[in-house]
Amino acid sequence: MNPEMRRVVSEAEAAARRGWSDADVAALAASTLNLRVDEPELQRILSLPIADHGFREEVFTTDPAFHASVFGLRAGETIPLHDHPELDVITKVLRGRIRVQTFEWIDATSLTARECGEVVIGDADDALVLRKSPGTLHVVTAIEATAFLDLFAPYYDDVMRPCRYYKVAGSAAGRLRASRRDGGVPSASGDIADGNMEGIQLRVVSWEEARSCPAPLTKP
Ligand SMILES: [Fe+2]
Repeated sequence: MNPEMRRVVSEAEAAARRGWSDADVAALAASTLNLRVDEPELQRILSLPIADHGFREEVFTTDPAFHASVFGLRAGETIPLHDHPELDVITKVLRGRIRVQTFEWIDATSLTARECGEVVIGDADDALVLRKSPGTLHVVTAIEATAFLDLFAPYYDDVMRPCRYYKVAGSAAGRLRASRRDGGVPSASGDIADGNMEGIQLRVVSWEEARSCPAPLTKP
């Protein structure tokens, strides 16, 4: 971790421990803008062993209140559709480029969500900020070899805030694809109008199933 990254992580940790505010989140996200790693550092991160959760992650600090780490994804690797229950997450690309497909809950109890489009972010872009509310899910795919910093407050735990993986249930995906074929019009935010109205039915899957076919939707 270089000194600038150390400073940002320390500030984030201090803010998290006092219960970070909206202003804290905005300031922290802004403070990550110039964070980068060079090519040798990217290659070092990509040579890390795969952790139990299936990815290369260098953890700087972790406990139930705060977690900071760097993930390394090789080109084409995907973190399947997953949620962030009651978590705020700041993600800053340090080198490379990722595609992020985002959903948000309409009703988490019934696993109904809406598609919110996708963005491609690289190291020159602002951090991606996911807030507790309304509760977001996403798929992260590396377009090229990528390292990114993740700041969580609080962090996942197995009981209160478990990380779950999801897939689009077949019938809902069929309805969404049908709405696209029938002329569903993307809104400015990238939503598909008919699918957005109808919602998308998700189901919880095991990590093994999530990994077997990570993309939740086939692009038209
Ligand atoms: Fe995530």
